[in-house]
Amino acid sequence: MSLIKLENIYKKFGVQQVLDGVNLSIEKGETLAIIGNSGCGKSVLLKHLIGLLQPDSGEIMVYDKDISKLTGPELDTIRKKFAMVFQGSALFDSLNVYENVSFGLRRVNKDLSEGLIKNKVEEVLDTVGMLGSEYKMPSALSGGMRKRVGLARAIAMDPEILLYDEPTTGLDPVMSRVIDDLIVKSKKLLGLTSVVVTHDMTSVFRMADRVVMVHEGKMIEGGKPSDLVNIENPILKNFFTSSVARTAD
Ligand SMILES: Nc1ncnc2c1ncn2[C@@H]1O[C@H](COP(=O)(O)OP(=O)(O)OP(=O)(O)O)[C@@H](O)[C@H]1O
Ligand SMILES: [Mg+2]
Repeated sequence: MSLIKLENIYKKFGVQQVLDGVNLSIEKGETLAIIGNSGCGKSVLLKHLIGLLQPDSGEIMVYDKDISKLTGPELDTIRKKFAMVFQGSALFDSLNVYENVSFGLRRVNKDLSEGLIKNKVEEVLDTVGMLGSEYKMPSALSGGMRKRVGLARAIAMDPEILLYDEPTTGLDPVMSRVIDDLIVKSKKLLGLTSVVVTHDMTSVFRMADRVVMVHEGKMIEGGKPSDLVNIENPILKNFFTSSVARTAD
């Protein structure tokens, strides 16, 4: 049984049909990379997985429950298994780094002592190379630093499923590698399931077990990253060849 199963997902904004019959299964413990051209609907798809967007029709089964039909406490219970690293970081501008990272921890567990919170915040900031920035405001950070704080906030929640929206975009190669290694490590050590939207083919090869591409509202199955070299589907082949050429530039 798949951990997540999307069946015939349709989503329209106005007249624009963004998702046009998406089918996708995600297995427990796998790292899935989602690629596709800008504006094709990758972020929209990711938001459906945690119930931030509702499909016009179709089913999103998570742990055998259709989250597109859940509300209230039932949706909250499923959502707690997920954490998401947003494309634009989505930090609270009026809170410092420490408060941003601890925000979710305090909300789900009101009895946590300040000492435990502090340990956790320091641990996850260290993981993303941001220890020492606890009292900085988001406006004082670079885009890449904000992204890492967003990631620290997500992993602090100890989720079972981590959704990443372009985690390495705008990061330098060293930090990109740190993030990729973190994704691989969280799978190996904790059995986490990761879904990673990315444009970064180097990153795909480092961290993904499987690749899918969103194109014209539908999913194209790409198999293992190493299979992309010989892929027959012309759309995926073209995307892959252009990305590799760009990386080599
Ligand atoms: N809340 C919304 N209301 C209206 N249109 C939206 C909304 N969210 C997304 N869209 C539209 O849906 C389409 C897909 O957007 P999405 O953000 O998923 O693209 P993407 O594949 O993540 O692109 P990128 O690689 O640039 O991040 C775009 O045309 C976008 O304008
Ligand atoms: Mg996006």
